[in-house]
Amino acid sequence: MTDSQIDPRRYRDVLGHFPTGVTVVTGLDSSGAPHGMTIGSFSSVSLDPPLVGFFPGMQLRSWPAISESGKFCVNILADGQDELCWKFAKEPADGETSKFSGVEWKPSANGSPILTGVIGWIDCTIEVVYEVGDHFFVVGRVQDLAQNDDVAAAMVFFRGKVASVKMPTFE
Ligand SMILES: Cc1cc2nc3c(=O)[nH]c(=O)nc-3n(C[C@H](O)[C@H](O)[C@H](O)COP(=O)(O)O)c2cc1C
Repeated sequence: MTDSQIDPRRYRDVLGHFPTGVTVVTGLDSSGAPHGMTIGSFSSVSLDPPLVGFFPGMQLRSWPAISESGKFCVNILADGQDELCWKFAKEPADGETSKFSGVEWKPSANGSPILTGVIGWIDCTIEVVYEVGDHFFVVGRVQDLAQNDDVAAAMVFFRGKVASVKMPTFE
């Protein structure tokens, strides 16, 4: 079977059956303005050295802006943060100049935005970026990270919708 025989709609539908976590990857451009994009293709990559990665599409607007700084922060969304998931998956809303309008955040040690209420965050410097098909594979070196034990459920994306996964209980 050649590549051209794979229908893009079918590719999206079938891959949509693979549940993923939902993150918002944030960073600052060279003028210090914050940018962010919803990313489901996040993964741990290596423990020693500590590396993580994700795949932004080459057409994304936020990634070129974020990459200027050489740094980014991965924000792991909690259950109930649907608004952030959809806000960062689109252009700024009508009348807003930034996706960050009305979004609470504080800077990481690197300066990248940590969004309020996330279940965890991973602050990185860009280690290497590969071109893979119509996406980049961005590998980041972990500089700092934290979890939020006050949040009991994470967001998952499955068949085009958000759902939640609760903290397992061990008896
Ligand atoms: C749950 C979810 C996961 C996503 N994961 C990715 C991803 O891994 N890579 C990607 O390029 N786009 C992904 N997107 C789409 C981007 O968030 C979307 O194209 C967004 O407009 C990017 O923002 P930008 O154009 O400002 O960069 C995802 C969207 C959603 C809702």
